[in-house]
This record gives sequence, C-alpha cells and structure tokens, in this order.
Amino acid sequence: MSPGRDAAWPPLRDELRGLAPYGAPQLDVPVQLNVNENPYAPSPRVVADIATAVAEVTGTLNRYPDREFIELRKALADYLVRESGVSVAPEQLWAANGSNEVMLQLLQAFGGPGRTAVSFAPTYSMYPEYARDAMTTWVAGRRREDFGFDVDHARELLDQHRPSVVLLPSPNNPTGTALPHEVIGTLCGLLPDGVVVVDEAYAEFRRSGTPSALELLAEHRNLVVTRTMSKAFALAGARVGYLAAAPEVCDAVRVVRLPYHLSAVTQAVATVALRHADELLSRVDDLRHERDRLVAWLRGRGLDVADSDANFVLFGRFADRHAVWQGLLDCGVLVRETGPDGWLRVSVGTPEEMAAFRDALTRTLTGTLAGTLTRTLTEETR
Ligand SMILES: Cc1ncc(COP(=O)(O)O)c(C=O)c1O
Repeated sequence: MSPGRDAAWPPLRDELRGLAPYGAPQLDVPVQLNVNENPYAPSPRVVADIATAVAEVTGTLNRYPDREFIELRKALADYLVRESGVSVAPEQLWAANGSNEVMLQLLQAFGGPGRTAVSFAPTYSMYPEYARDAMTTWVAGRRREDFGFDVDHARELLDQHRPSVVLLPSPNNPTGTALPHEVIGTLCGLLPDGVVVVDEAYAEFRRSGTPSALELLAEHRNLVVTRTMSKAFALAGARVGYLAAAPEVCDAVRVVRLPYHLSAVTQAVATVALRHADELLSRVDDLRHERDRLVAWLRGRGLDVADSDANFVLFGRFADRHAVWQGLLDCGVLVRETGPDGWLRVSVGTPEEMAAFRDALTRTLTGTLAGTLTRTLTEETR
C-alpha cells in the first residue's frame, strides 16, 4: 500500500488526528466584522515611512536579523509608558510573530508534559491549542452567567490543579469583559510558583477608568502581560505581539524561541509603526464611540449584550444563532459564530460598516425567518 492510503500515514501525533486547523472563515464579503481587526488602514504617510524602512532593510537581508531586537524593545517600552503610564525596561519586553506566538512560547517555556494550563470559559479559543501543541494538560474553568470572574471558583480550580500557567484575556475574547486589578492580584498571590498571563490584546480599547494589568507588574514577579499590534494599532498583517514581565520570564522565553524568529522586515515595520503610534491609534476613540453606540442599539432592540471594553460586542441570545449568522452573511455582513451557545460576536467597524450591520440584522430578524430567530433563548427558558 502506498503511504498516502495508509490510515496511519502521515505519522501524526494521536491527539492531532482528525483535527482541522484553527481559523475563522476568510470569506470575500463586503463587510468583514469577524476577526476584530481595525478597519482603518495605515495612512499614505505611514505607508511611505514603512516602505522606506523596509527598502533600507532589504539591502541587508543576506544577514540574519538582530536576535534580541533591541531597537524594537526600546520602542515598545517608549510606547507603553505613554499609553499606560507604566515604565518597563527593554529587558522586561519580548516580542514575536503575533501574540499567538508569544503565548505559544510561554506554554513551551512554562507548560509541558505533566503540567497544566488553566483558563475560564468563555475564553479565547486558541488557548487550548497552545496547550495541546506544548503538550500541556488543558483545564477550562468557567465564568459567571454575566461573564464576570468568579474568584471562589478560580481558587478551587487552582487548588485542585496547581497549574503552571493561567491564561486570562482582559478584555476577554469573546465577551469583552475586563478584569479588575483585585482579581489579577488575587490569582498572582494564589499561584506563586506559576505564571499568570493577562492577555491584553484589546487593552487600548478599554473604557476610561478600566486599568491595565501593566500597573501590577512591579508587585508580582509571576505576572505576564501580553499585547499585540494586530488590533488597535491596525497592523494585523505585520504579525507583531509582545509581552511585558520580569526579566527572568523574558530570559526563560528566550530559551525556547527559534533563532532569529523575528525577521528584519518585521522589526523594521514594527519600529516605524511605533514611531507613528499616535496616528495609527488615532481611530481608537472613534471605534470606542461606535462600540458604545452599537451596544445601545442592540439593547434597544431587546437583545442581550455583554458590556465591552474591546472592539467587538457579544450579543444574542438566539435560538438558532447559525441562522442569524447566515442571514447576516446573505446580506453581505460576516460576523463570528463564537462564544456560548446562542450568542454571536461582531467586530466594530467604520460607521458605514456598522450601518450595514444594523441594516442586515434588522432585515434578518424581521425577514422570513423572523418567527424562529427573534425568539431568544431567554424567552424560551422563562
Ligand atoms: C484575546 C486574544 N489574544 C490574542 C490574539 C492573537 O492576536 P495576534 O496573534 O494577532 O497578536 C487574539 C486574536 O484575535 C485575541 O483575540
């Protein structure tokens, strides 16, 4: 028998057999509101500066890049002090190809066979995959019904499993819920021998008064805060994520990273983008405003909506969420079928995109399927 026809070929790890690669559908539709991107492309001025930097670096591509990306780390430190008022040294920063890669490296360094990673559902759907890929046992606790954090439940779960890594998105994906400082401080205190990773992929969108976990770094040596340039920075295509933590944590991650993992092109793009931070982030306020408008509009339609500190909103609850998702898609609007049963997640786009979304949802909910779609789960279970 040729290897291709043999059920045991290729020699995949048993736990990977039959699994599909992760990823939201990449469909070519007019209004794409499914992966929480920033809808505003970089301006011609930023594009020109990035192009110049890339052209310069192209002349040296015969050489490997700076393995420690010192210039980029300094630029990230400058940015963080301006954004959150927290001063971190370059040796407290680490970057990789998206915060996805940063977190995989964290699991490679601090997880592994015989160790456990914990998060609290609903949570970011990639976490179990990092754990699986780093051969780490995965345990998912739960959040409260209103998506708030249940500290007593967390305490029990940590006591029971003694994880080496806890993954906490704040604001949470898919609910948009941010964590208060007290919760983060409590978890760091409960797990002195493990690392508590607060994933702040959406931090720049937080409402005023919502703190960043960066403020707690000086108090907790086991706290790791991850961030990304994919969301507020409008740089998803460049693949740049980073973490801030104690220097020992960065040193541990350096052990597992591939040599020269951050290309010279990526470093150049990210460094120039950080120089233009004010401009790249200039639409964040507009997106926050559009988010708050969207929450109010959805609530005005009698839907359940989770409070959001991010650039997306979780709404529902639908007896058949797939039919609503399909109805929106039929109107040219792509949202994400994710989160607890009955809920959908929509990213915040431009005012025009949000108008298209509102129109599509109105048409879907009042269309031919109206009878089944507008009956929410809440009503059904009442
Ligand atoms: C909570 C959360 N963390 C991390 C990421 C990964 O982002 P990236 O790898 O683009 O930095 C995402 C992406 O959607 C996310 O939602």
